[in-house]
Amino acid sequence: MNTKELREKFFQFYKGYDHKLIPSASLLPENDPTVLFTTAGMHPLVPFLLGSPHPEGKRLVNVQKCIRTQDIDDVGDAWHSTFFEMLGYWSLGDYFKKEAIERTFAFLTKQLGFDANSLAVTVFMGEGSIPSDEESYSIWKNLGFSNDQIFKLGKEENFWGPAGMTGPCGPCSETFFVTTPNCNFGRTDCSPACKCGRYVELCNNVFMQYDKKGDGSFTLLPQKNVDFGMGLLRVVSIFNHLNSIYESDVYSASMQYLKSLSNELTIEQRRIIVDHIQAAMFAIGDGIRPNNVGAGYIVRRLLRRAFRLANQAKLQKEYIEKLVKSYGHVYEVQYPEIIAKQSEILQAIYEEEDKFVLALGQGLKYFEKELERLQARSKADNQTVISGQTAFYMFETFGFPLEVTQEIAKERGFSVDVAGFTLSFQEHQEKSRMAGDKLFKGGLADNSETVTKLHTATHLLHEALRKVLGPHVEQKGSNITAERLRFDFSHPNKLTDEELKKVETLVNEQIQKQLSISVNDMSIDDAQVSGAIGLFESKYGARVSVYSIGNFSKEICGGPHVKNTSELGRFSIKKEEASSRGVRRIKAVLD
Ligand code: ALA
Repeated sequence: MNTKELREKFFQFYKGYDHKLIPSASLLPENDPTVLFTTAGMHPLVPFLLGSPHPEGKRLVNVQKCIRTQDIDDVGDAWHSTFFEMLGYWSLGDYFKKEAIERTFAFLTKQLGFDANSLAVTVFMGEGSIPSDEESYSIWKNLGFSNDQIFKLGKEENFWGPAGMTGPCGPCSETFFVTTPNCNFGRTDCSPACKCGRYVELCNNVFMQYDKKGDGSFTLLPQKNVDFGMGLLRVVSIFNHLNSIYESDVYSASMQYLKSLSNELTIEQRRIIVDHIQAAMFAIGDGIRPNNVGAGYIVRRLLRRAFRLANQAKLQKEYIEKLVKSYGHVYEVQYPEIIAKQSEILQAIYEEEDKFVLALGQGLKYFEKELERLQARSKADNQTVISGQTAFYMFETFGFPLEVTQEIAKERGFSVDVAGFTLSFQEHQEKSRMAGDKLFKGGLADNSETVTKLHTATHLLHEALRKVLGPHVEQKGSNITAERLRFDFSHPNKLTDEELKKVETLVNEQIQKQLSISVNDMSIDDAQVSGAIGLFESKYGARVSVYSIGNFSKEICGGPHVKNTSELGRFSIKKEEASSRGVRRIKAVLD
């Protein structure tokens, strides 16, 4: 059975129980500013788990594209990847634990033929205000599971969600495949919570009955839901007795291909390259561009880590195209956007590669010298830690993400002082913020009423450009006088008259909507997670002000702004021209 067949089998099984097939949503979450990517199938369904009726009814099934960035460090082992497909089904206030567990069991054993003796399950043991899940325990018992196949675990392991900071969540019951008879760490108390690799998770039934509030408390949802997730590749790999997801039909051709290109790449490094390029491909396909903000910054890190490994093994650039095309072939039926946008995706990856490769040679040269110096010194003092300042210098000067510096260091027997890196990062931001404040004051002609209005209009323009042209639009410069605003931004082409009209109309619509402007003080990390736009890397301090204009725009900024968009009058674009390569310039006024 390959991945295509498993998707189909899963859909058919649940369609047989009246579930409606719904499409995969974008990797870019639409309504949740607290997360960077869609991390589970339930994510786009939050409003319906909270009680709104879904147009397709109370029983749904699908496969969802997901990216989980918390797994970046584990990529390289047999089972982890940052991008993955999750098979899911939902009962939205319809059936509950009994049907869910019984069908999961039937699907695994009857449809896929897993031996019940090779499975283990978990149920929630009870913790805090949430009681133990005796019901699920008895359901598994009635299906023939022995006491030592059922593990009771606490919140850390067996309570799922919410996907962001708040929202639907609940106790869960996970199903595992037991790979070896004994714990690989030799522990007698081994359980699915053990990291020895003996238990490989197949799927998870979450009984979503709670809503986590902003203050950390839980209230009961108006309905009891089931949220189910199953990692497509894990199941297909275990079903086919493979030792890793990277041997499955999705990856096998690209893993073989990389092997044929170079003997220098280890299997872990090949896994990292195929996963990271794949994740970047899907993210770019959903409109996310590598940059220094939020999800774009993750894409940049993934790509640069893959580029460095490929560069080290002297792969020629064409491996990128080969991988992207190979995935196109695998996914064309399920995710046609990957084919439709293939050239756009390749262009974005190549542009990022050009940027990184330029700095890479110089960066490596510098780092080599530094490592030689440290190696000589470590003979005397046994010191094998690279300072945070050095790691930060690599980041700031050569664009090396921390992971890349860590990886190179590790190859030489060194580690990096991560806390020191974070500190240098913050100190630098604080200094830049102070300099930026001065710059900001200089950038604005004065703080007159007109200038303040134009400044708010600039935020509206920035967001309107992103909505009309795409999220690759980033501010490259801004200058405001009492007469006009001038805004420079990244975009490859001249704007058409139609695009300009759309942008202008979108801004004027926000003015007519009389949106109020609010400001929140937050840490740079929270700002990033909240989806605010702004230059995170170099211009701001550890705490920043985030200005929101209704729900339309959210941007890091030093102000000043008007209180309501109704104060702005009519916005009109006077000129659009090139500023430099890949950067356009708009001049606009308020009448
Ligand atoms: N949302 C659940 C998970 O991701 C099913 O495990």
